[in-house]
Amino acid sequence: MANLKKLKGLKFIKMLPDRQARFESAKAEVPSFSDNATALARALHPKCQHLKIAQVIERGEDCKSFVLVPDAEKGTTQLAYFGAGKYLTVFEEIEGMPVTRAYSISSSPKDSLEGRYVLTIKLVEGGLVSRFIFDNWTVGRAVKASAPAGNFEYQELRDAKKVICIAGGSGITPFLSMANAIADGDEDFSMTLLYGSRNYENILFRDELAELEKKCDKIKVIHVLSAEDKEIEGTEKGFITAELIKKYAPENEEYSVFLCGPQQMYEFVDKELEKLNLPKKFIRHEMFGEFHNPASQEDYPQGVPEKVKITVKCQDETFTVEGSTGDSVVQILEKGKIAVPTRCRSGECGFCHSHLLSGKIYVPEKLEFRRLADYKFDCFHPCSSFPLTDLEIEIPAAK
Ligand SMILES: Cc1cc2nc3c(=O)[nH]c(=O)nc-3n(C[C@H](O)[C@H](O)[C@H](O)COP(=O)(O)OP(=O)(O)OC[C@H]3O[C@@H](n4cnc5c(N)ncnc54)[C@H](O)[C@@H]3O)c2cc1C
Ligand code: FES
Repeated sequence: MANLKKLKGLKFIKMLPDRQARFESAKAEVPSFSDNATALARALHPKCQHLKIAQVIERGEDCKSFVLVPDAEKGTTQLAYFGAGKYLTVFEEIEGMPVTRAYSISSSPKDSLEGRYVLTIKLVEGGLVSRFIFDNWTVGRAVKASAPAGNFEYQELRDAKKVICIAGGSGITPFLSMANAIADGDEDFSMTLLYGSRNYENILFRDELAELEKKCDKIKVIHVLSAEDKEIEGTEKGFITAELIKKYAPENEEYSVFLCGPQQMYEFVDKELEKLNLPKKFIRHEMFGEFHNPASQEDYPQGVPEKVKITVKCQDETFTVEGSTGDSVVQILEKGKIAVPTRCRSGECGFCHSHLLSGKIYVPEKLEFRRLADYKFDCFHPCSSFPLTDLEIEIPAAK
C-alpha cells in the first residue's frame, strides 16, 4: 500500500514505462480486476474502522496520546493507509446520543502499515467529547473511527517546495505526522515549523520534534513562546507575526504557509499573513474544531434575533427545535437530541449535506466550501451554518 504514494502527481508519469513492460509480459488471461480494485478501495476507504486502545501516553495535565491498533475480533485486521495531515472521525455515544469529533493522526503514515495510529487529544474546558475521551478511553477499550479523511496534506502540484508550518497548541498534531513522513522519506518538502506555545514547559512533543530536527535536515523547528519569563536560546518570544514569518521564510523563493490551531490563532495570524501578500494558493488552513461566536465576524449581519426555531424533516418525520443563533445548525439540532451525520464538523467534507427549505443562514468565509450546484439546489452544510432566521430544513438520516 505504501506504493500508492507513488501515484501522486508527476510520479504517476514516471511509472508508465514500467506499466507498459508489465502489460507486455503479462499472461493472456483476464485478471479479476474488479475484485482487486474493490478490495483495494475497501482497504483504503473503509466505512468504519474498529480499533482498540493499546497504550495511553499522558502529556501533561490536559493532553493525552492514544495508540490505536486494529480490533480483529470486530472485523478490522488492517488499518487504512493515509497521507500525513489527515484526520480520523471518532464515533462515540454519550447519554444515548451519537456524537462525532475529528482528530488529526499525529503518527507517521508508515506506522499505519505497521498497524498503529496515534491520536493526541487535548482536554477542552467545557468540551463534551474531549472530556468523555479523557474519562473513558483506557487501554483495551474499543473505539470506532472513520477512514482517514481531509485535504490538509502536502500536494506537490499546488504547494511550494518550502513550507512554513504554523502550529498553535494541539494544532501540532498534523505537522508531527508530516515531519515524521519527511524523515521517513514518504514526503518530499522542507518544513520550517513555527510552533506557538505558552511557555517552554508547555511545549507538546518537544523532545520528539528535537529528534526529528536532528535526524533530517529538511526539518527546522522554532518555538514561539507567548508567556515565557526566561530567556531560552533558540526560541522566540511573543506571537507569530508577519515579521517573524519573514525572518524564517526563504529569501527570493516561493513558499507555502500551512496553519493549524485554534480559531483565535487564525484570526491573529491571517491578518499578519495579509501583510506578506502571498498568492492565495500558498496559504492552507486546517479547520481544527468547531466555529464559535459568528457575530464576531466583520460580515455578520445586523439585527439577528437571539433565538430561532428550526423545523427539521428527516425521512418521514418532522421535529421542531429552538436554539441560539450563536450555535451552528448542527449544534442546535444535537442539543435538541436530533442526530445529524457528521465527520469534519467544519464545512469541508460535505457529509452533513442537507436542504434549506426556507429561512436564512450565515456561513463564515473560512467555512464556505459549498459548490455552485449547492447554491442552485438550496443545499447547505449544517455544521458550518448559523441560522439568521427561523429555518425549515431537510437532513439525511444518521447512519
Ligand atoms: C480536522 C480536525 C482535526 C482536529 N484534530 C485535533 C487533534 O489532533 N487534537 C485535538 O485535541 N483536537 C483536534 N480537533 C478538535 C476536536 O475535533 C474537537 O473540536 C475538540 O476535541 C473539542 O471537542 P469537545 O466535544 O470536547 O468540545 P465541544 O463540546 O465541541 O466544545 C468546544 C469548546 O467550545 C466551547 N463552546 C461550546 N459552545 C460554544 C458557543 N456557543 N460559544 C462559544 N464557545 C462554545 C465549549 O465550552 C468548549 O470550550 C480537530 C478538529 C478538526 C476539525
Ligand atoms: S460534517 Fe463535514 S461538512 Fe458538515
